[in-house]
Amino acid sequence: MTRPRRILVTSALPYANGPIHLGHLVEYIQTDIWVRFQKMRGHQCHYVCADDTHGTPIMLRAEQEGIPPEALIARVHEEHRRDFAGFHVAFDNYYTTHSEETRELAETIYARLKARGLIEARAVEQYYDPVKDLFLPDRFIRGQCPRCQAKDQYGDSCEVCGATYAPTELIEPYSALSGAAPVRRESLHYFFKLGKCQDFLKIWTRAGHLQEEAANKMEEWFEAGLDDWDISRDAPYFGFEIPGAPGKFFYVWLDAPIGYMGSFKNLCRRRGWDFDAYWNKDSEAELYHFIGKDILYFHALFWPAMLEHADFRTPSQIFAHGFLTVNGEKMSKSRGTFITAESYLRQGLNPEWLRYYYACKLNGSLEDIDLNLEDFVARVNSDLVGKYLNIASRTAGFIVKRFQGKLGQPAPSAALEDSFEGVAEEIAAHYENREYGRAIRKIMEVADAVNRYIDTHKPWELARSQDHDPQLQAVCSTALSLFRDLTVYLKPVLPHLAGEVERFLNAPLTWSALSQPLPAGHTINPYQHLMTRIDPQQVEALVKANQASLQAAPPSQAEPPQQAVEPVAATIGLEDFAKVDLRIARILRAESVPGADKLLKLTLDLGEARPRTVFAGIKSAYDPAHLEGQLTVMVANLAPRKMRFGLSEGMVLAASDGRGGPFLLSPDAGAQPGMRVK
Ligand code: 2FM
Ligand code: ZN
Repeated sequence: MTRPRRILVTSALPYANGPIHLGHLVEYIQTDIWVRFQKMRGHQCHYVCADDTHGTPIMLRAEQEGIPPEALIARVHEEHRRDFAGFHVAFDNYYTTHSEETRELAETIYARLKARGLIEARAVEQYYDPVKDLFLPDRFIRGQCPRCQAKDQYGDSCEVCGATYAPTELIEPYSALSGAAPVRRESLHYFFKLGKCQDFLKIWTRAGHLQEEAANKMEEWFEAGLDDWDISRDAPYFGFEIPGAPGKFFYVWLDAPIGYMGSFKNLCRRRGWDFDAYWNKDSEAELYHFIGKDILYFHALFWPAMLEHADFRTPSQIFAHGFLTVNGEKMSKSRGTFITAESYLRQGLNPEWLRYYYACKLNGSLEDIDLNLEDFVARVNSDLVGKYLNIASRTAGFIVKRFQGKLGQPAPSAALEDSFEGVAEEIAAHYENREYGRAIRKIMEVADAVNRYIDTHKPWELARSQDHDPQLQAVCSTALSLFRDLTVYLKPVLPHLAGEVERFLNAPLTWSALSQPLPAGHTINPYQHLMTRIDPQQVEALVKANQASLQAAPPSQAEPPQQAVEPVAATIGLEDFAKVDLRIARILRAESVPGADKLLKLTLDLGEARPRTVFAGIKSAYDPAHLEGQLTVMVANLAPRKMRFGLSEGMVLAASDGRGGPFLLSPDAGAQPGMRVK
């Protein structure tokens, strides 16, 4: 192999006021796969990210919750860390832009740009909220669209006719924060003179740092002319105050990409590494930013221009990807397809199912990718369980039972050898180019070849007579050695599963191991089930849970502060309510579930032929012994949900909120199991 590359990789920094959802995860999973691949190939690759913590929305959100912004971003930081870890996204550092490292770097970059004459101060007139006493960002001004007259449109664009305009063009504008009519007010702002960087940018954007489609997009922007960029905001603002400009703060988008550097600087400090070796102008290290195509303007124009003129190196490449659609449409809260990372994991879905599905769909282009929920189930079940894992489950048993776990000499057929010829390097090239879909197709092609080999040699028939033992051992050993290879190929996508396979095969799953088959005499461990199939009902339950959580979601920016009592959900018609079949149920048995802290397993009589099993999160409040014999109310027509501990066939009703709970419902005397509640 050539000498190890030194690579620094980033994903876009998520805002610190909202949860990670499946749309975000496209990017983090895409990046994580790439980084894991580079590390497996022996390169020095570091993956850093951080929360994007500054700006008006975060300041207002904290105010709404009645906490300081520092407390909000600390809480969200923990939530984000938890979600990323849950999906096996392995950052080398997950930091925050609200850090001393980022502040110092922002000040340095600003000072250097200023020294070069690239910063200019000038007065601008903007809308000001006289009640809240702050300048209003465009998104917080609403009014009637100047083009189509639609009511309640944002200050920068109309969702009805698609027009874009300045907030000052809105008819009858009002502040989304206070409802007051905003007033125009003048204030001094600082601008980065992007127009002066046009010559540099024209060359840079055509020098191989961008995907072709992205470079073309830049062309359109150059033709429209580059405006100077407003990089300051007035107090009150949550961010870094600009040195020498009291009451003026760096706009969040100025310090966000600097947060990439800040996070890496923090990592260097902790590890004793040389930060400058990665960021100096003459650095030989590679720098890649994975981003969504919506933030290309910031990353392909502002960011290289800032770095270049502040004497830092510029990115090697910007890797932009498309958006996620679910079932062919934009993610939607009302359809339940705005799915949070937390809910996915909480519903008991395996994170590697999603990593695999995204990998199947991802490529190096800016095209959108679709999560089709039916296809998701079919693809994971047929590829991972039906093809790949099937190889091990069809062969390992014979090795363990008949040969004390010892492998024999492999004996691949010529056809099988052909299908593995040059495959490792082909797959490596696909990973390198972010053509994961192609890598997966190739991997499944060779998995098919291994399954055909097993079909042809029929180990289950060879096993009928001990005379065929040498062949049986050879066939199964061949299959298992190739199963090892397949797992190496899949490891960047399925790191957790690969870890389990490593224990099962008792062999390291490294790229360099691919050169040799598992040797004769090598001992493997008994095969245990490595991954379950997706039950379509789990996916249905996930969508339902995300529809339901809509009602319980925290208020958005523009809504009044949260009250002690949760606001009542959106109005529904009688016909909607009638869909919910509530029944009286008698608790026949209540038991703790080994391994589950919060759950009780309830056996419920609804007057049906067979009692039902329901897992309820009420263990913290009820002693199982006291529940037996009691009556309660349950949702009887909820789709059954497969949980780690068994199938849950409904839901019992209980009240709770910040003040306590859960409190189980119980009917008045006289009610009988099976009676409908309406
Ligand atoms: O669009 C966003 O979600 C931003 N928070 C991304 C910032 S990326 C980088 F520049 F920090
Ligand atoms: Zn309009």
